[in-house]
Amino acid sequence: MSQDSIAVGSMAGASSNSGRGLWSSRWAFFLAATGSAVGLGNIWKFPYITGENGGGAFVLVYLACILVIGIPLLMTEVMIGRRGRANPEGAMAALAKQVGAGRHWRLFGSMAILTGFLILSFYAVIAGWALAYTPAAIMGSFAGLNGESSGALFGALLGDPWKLVGFGTVVLLLTLGIVALGVREGLERSLRFMMPGLFVLLLGLVGYAATTGHFLEAVHFLFDADFSKLSGQSVLVALGHAFFTLSLATGAMMAYGSYLPAGTSIAKTAIMVALADTAVALLAGLAIFPLVFANGLEPGAGPGLIFVTLPIAFGQMPFGQLVGGLFFIMLAIAALTSAISLLEPTVAWLGEKFAIGRIKAVVLSGIVLWLLSLGTALSFNVWSDFTLFGKTFFDSLDYLTTSLLMPLGGLGTVVFGGWVLSRTVVQEALGIGHPHLFTLWWQVLRWVTPLGIVLVFLHTLGLFG
Ligand code: PHE
Repeated sequence: MSQDSIAVGSMAGASSNSGRGLWSSRWAFFLAATGSAVGLGNIWKFPYITGENGGGAFVLVYLACILVIGIPLLMTEVMIGRRGRANPEGAMAALAKQVGAGRHWRLFGSMAILTGFLILSFYAVIAGWALAYTPAAIMGSFAGLNGESSGALFGALLGDPWKLVGFGTVVLLLTLGIVALGVREGLERSLRFMMPGLFVLLLGLVGYAATTGHFLEAVHFLFDADFSKLSGQSVLVALGHAFFTLSLATGAMMAYGSYLPAGTSIAKTAIMVALADTAVALLAGLAIFPLVFANGLEPGAGPGLIFVTLPIAFGQMPFGQLVGGLFFIMLAIAALTSAISLLEPTVAWLGEKFAIGRIKAVVLSGIVLWLLSLGTALSFNVWSDFTLFGKTFFDSLDYLTTSLLMPLGGLGTVVFGGWVLSRTVVQEALGIGHPHLFTLWWQVLRWVTPLGIVLVFLHTLGLFG
C-alpha cells in the first residue's frame, strides 16, 4: 500500500474534507472498520458472556440485535460521520443545523465520545492479558496444564497488580503512539495480513476443538435456544454486546465514516463488516466451548474463560507453543486495532473543538486514560473488595458503558437518523440504490430499531414479557 493509503489525521485528500484526510478507498475503510469491530469483544467477551447467560437463547437474541439494531445503526453512524465530516459531536451538530433541528442533538455525539473513552480505559487492561500470555505461550508455560492449574496460572496474572498495570500501559502507549501518528500506513498494512491470519488460526482452533469429543455438546450449548435460561438482564447484555462488538455508540464508526470518500456504498460495506464480525465471534465460541466441556470447566466462569481454556489446548496440541504464541499476539493486535478506533473520536474532538494539535490531544487523553486504567487493573487484585452496587470498578465501568450508555446513545442516534434527518438526505448518503430495499431499511430504522432498544429496556426492568 502506498504511503498515504490511510491518511486519517494527515493532510492528504484535504480538498474534499477540509484538511482532515480521507481513506484511500472503500477497501481501506472496510479494513479499518473491520479492524475496529473485530477485537476482544469477539474472542474474549462473546464466549464468556454467552457462558454466563446460558448459551443458545442468548446467542439468538444477540444475533437478532445485530440484525435489526446493530446493522441499521452502523449504517446510520457511518452516514452521519461522512455527511458531517467532523468528530462525532461536531458531525451531529452540523447535521442538526443543516436540517434545522435543535443544537442539543450534538450531546449524543459527546456522550458517544465519552463512552468510547471510558471503554478504552478497561479495554487496554484486558488487551494486556493477551500481551502477557504471548511470551508465556512461546516459552512453553502451558505444557501439561489442566483445568485447575490453568486457572491458577491465570489467577496469578490477575493477582499481580504490577503486571496488569505494566501490560495495560504498554497497550495504551502503543495505541496513543499510533493515533498520534495519524492512524496511517501501519494500520492498513497490519490489518491486511492480521485479519486473514486470525481467521485461519481460529478455524484451526475450531478444528482442534472438534477432536476433543465435546464438539457437539458445544454446538448444542451455542445454538439450542432454551429461553428459560434467559433472564431480563441477559437480554440487555445481548443488546449491549451487539453495540460493543460492532463498535457502535462510541463515535468510532462515525469518526471512521468521517474519513470515507463520497460515493462508497455505506450499506454494502456495513453488511460486510457485520458479517465478518459475527463470523469471528461464532468461530471463537466453537473453538472455546468444546475445550470448556472437555476439561470440566464452568461455561459461566467469567472474564477469564478464554485465558483458562485455550492454554490447556495449546499445552497439549502439536506445535502448541507456536500456535499459542501466534494466537495471543494476534489477539493483542486485533485488540490494538479496536483500541485505536476507541481513541480516535476523543482525539479528533479535542483537536477540532479546542484547536489543539494532535500530539497534545493524545498526551492529554493518555494521562486521563492511564489513571482510569489503574482502576480496572487494581479491581482484580488490591481493590477487589471495593464495590459499587456489588460490582467491582471494572464490572461497574463495563456495565455503565455497555449496558447503559451504549443502548441509550444508540437510541438517540437512531432517532436522529430516522426522525430528524430527512428521508432524501439519508437515501442519498447511504447508497441503497433499490427503492423498495431502501424503504424497507428506512422503516426498520424508524420503527423496529428504536422500538427494539426500548423493548429490551422494558424487558430488563421486568415491565414486559
Ligand atoms: N468492537 C470492539 C471489539 O469487539 C470493541 C470496540 C467497541 C471498539 C467500541 C470500538 C468501539 O472488541
